[in-house]
Amino acid sequence: MSQPLITLDFLDTPTLPTPTVEATTHAHEPSGAVRVNPSTRTGRTRKLYIESYGCQMNFSDSEIVSSILFEQGFDTTEELEGADLVLLNTCSIREKAEQTVRMRLSQINSYKKRSPGMLVGVLGCMAERLKSKFLEEEKLVDLVVGPDAYRDLPQLIQQVDGGQKAVNVLLSREETYADITPVRLNSNGITAFISIMRGCDNMCSFCVVPFTRGRERSRDAHSIVQEARDLVAQGYKEVTLLGQNVDSYKWASADGTEHVNFAQLLERVALISPELRVRFSTSHPKDITDEVLHTMARHENICKYIHLPAQSGNSRVLALMNRTYDRPWYEERVQAIRRILGEDCAISTDMISGFCSETEEEHQDTLSLIDFVQYDMGYNFFYSERPGTLAARKLEDDIPLDVKKRRLQEVIDRQQLHARARYARMVGRVHRVLVEGRSKRSEDQLSGRNSQNQVVIFPKGTAQKGDYVNVLVTSTTGAALLGEII
Ligand code: SAH
Ligand code: SF4
Ligand code: F3S
Repeated sequence: MSQPLITLDFLDTPTLPTPTVEATTHAHEPSGAVRVNPSTRTGRTRKLYIESYGCQMNFSDSEIVSSILFEQGFDTTEELEGADLVLLNTCSIREKAEQTVRMRLSQINSYKKRSPGMLVGVLGCMAERLKSKFLEEEKLVDLVVGPDAYRDLPQLIQQVDGGQKAVNVLLSREETYADITPVRLNSNGITAFISIMRGCDNMCSFCVVPFTRGRERSRDAHSIVQEARDLVAQGYKEVTLLGQNVDSYKWASADGTEHVNFAQLLERVALISPELRVRFSTSHPKDITDEVLHTMARHENICKYIHLPAQSGNSRVLALMNRTYDRPWYEERVQAIRRILGEDCAISTDMISGFCSETEEEHQDTLSLIDFVQYDMGYNFFYSERPGTLAARKLEDDIPLDVKKRRLQEVIDRQQLHARARYARMVGRVHRVLVEGRSKRSEDQLSGRNSQNQVVIFPKGTAQKGDYVNVLVTSTTGAALLGEII
């Protein structure tokens, strides 16, 4: 489990050469690579090794890809050595993310030279961004497949088996993979992610996602509820509904008689079982409605945690970023959260330091917004220009790297101050915790999370993974709560 206080750009600390970072539990959180668990299935003839980079959407897509390829006779393996097909599901969000993938590819290529017959494919956002250029730049890559083309993988692999290179990076306005049951990778059997939409129709000037993931589209509400029901039947206790901007979820039945917005979808999933926890990510400050907040308040099992990326605390910078809200709007949304859900509802953010033309005063505004909100968690980055984005075309990336990094560090420090205080105020109280497994520290300790997504660690007693337990919290490390079951 990731430590909530970590706010560094994860991709600044690549996990190479052997990526072993555990799957994160945050939909929005960029992370290093994650390898899949070995599957227990047998009788498959070819071995698939898949590594995922970037946000939780990519991890979720890898589960869809594994499902599609399972039908084609591929079983997953956690050993690169001996794999027949190696897939990297890639991220383009910042330059570092792409560098990490390139470094990994060069390692994989050295394996490939020693392993005749091994095929190497690149999936995801970097595949979409670079398209067939990838094949020119990385000669040993056989396959380049964008996020909306995974159904075509069987044909593309056939093509590669026939000795050709294969590329499909077509984006779609409809594809949601609604009918594909994901093969759960890296699963603890308790928590799972469900993609409810794909793409993004916002045009934040810094962001590559609209180019790599295409237009926004919402998945059939019935297929989402059914997937959650199936997970409950298999013993899962928590689902996280995923989208780049979940608040703009909007689905209508083909005959137009049924319309479902995000608040209604959330309620439908929450009603499946009071024992099922429901989380979601990411909320866009311009779209999060009071209806969503009231729905959260009505259902105990909808977790009281909202990831509400601000990006900046200054209205001029927000306008340059094309975020379509200003600081007063953001503050009002935070006040609505506090009014409807109370002080205990956790709020987290993403911030970008050193965006084009950001002044020292404007940076100070970001720090003061952090003070205003008192975030529980933050994922903070320095600005990295992405080719083709609005900012790359129209604005000058003029803040020197050392200034960006210094401002980022100030943002991290300020945010951690509040995160520690938010942890400290939980001491002395009883928390309902979903047990996710053994604590990393000790065999005798269990680890889980409270509704606010804070990590809670306690002696195991008779509790088991998947149980809900009441834990009296007696202290905090600043990154986790410590206590005992009562
Ligand atoms: N859909 C989410 C963001 C997904 S990308 C939202 O709108 O909030 C995750 C985070 O990466 C963003 O919130 C932003 O903080 C960061 N990010 C995106 N593009 C970036 C860039 N060019 N440089 C630095 N950080 C960036
Ligand atoms: Fe990128 Fe903005 Fe869409 Fe988030 S909302 S994915 S930051 S364009
Ligand atoms: Fe996600 Fe990275 Fe793509 S953050 S949407 S995998 S660019």
